[in-house]
Amino acid sequence: MGSKIIKLGVLVSGRGSNLQAIIDSIEAGKIPAMIEVVISDKENAYALTRARNHGVPAIFIDPRKFPRKEDFEKAIGDELEARGVELVCLAGFMRILSPYFVNRFRNRIINIHPAILPSFPGLHAQGQAVEYGVKIAGCTVHFVTEEVDAGPIIIQAAVPVYDDDTEETLSARILEYEHKIYPMAIKLIAEGRVRIEGRKVIIDGVKKERWAVTNPPLEI
Ligand code: GAR
Repeated sequence: MGSKIIKLGVLVSGRGSNLQAIIDSIEAGKIPAMIEVVISDKENAYALTRARNHGVPAIFIDPRKFPRKEDFEKAIGDELEARGVELVCLAGFMRILSPYFVNRFRNRIINIHPAILPSFPGLHAQGQAVEYGVKIAGCTVHFVTEEVDAGPIIIQAAVPVYDDDTEETLSARILEYEHKIYPMAIKLIAEGRVRIEGRKVIIDGVKKERWAVTNPPLEI
């Protein structure tokens, strides 16, 4: 039996390259999903253009029009619900959601973060990694909870950090894998293979492999 088509709502603030990766995966038939709406809190977000280029409804909701954060989030939530959205994907949405929104879509919001959480939460995660001197960095797709960048982890990818990396070069290396793991996380959820148990995410049918990535590469 094939999996059902999961209805997505994608929240964005900027250039939307992760949104593009999701759109491309759907169009290529790699994930059983459909984007019902893209919502931006920034009027000129390029993500809105990307959505419209692919016939995906894209709307700007102006946070300045709402006296309280919750009213703004209620407007987003109403839009998502009116369109039957089952999974809310944050893709470069640069706002912290309040407990009201998290509660309304409990266990149905996922986010991509450019670090191997719980290392380097918050802004400029890639810059934090370069600054700290870690040898391995990466990205994480996780469920969103009230605590920022701290919800149950679905999938992570690791990339090397080189001595001459800057925030920009490391960001580009990580981004390539963001574009792979975000559609993959959506696929796993759409296939009904993901369940949350406390702080952990259990995924059905994961092949166990023996591997390790080292940086520098092993020489012995
Ligand atoms: C991505 O690198 C994403 O991981 C990051 O913003 C970028 C959005 O790019 N998100 C965060 O830092 C969230 N804390 P995009 O608009 O091209 O997808």
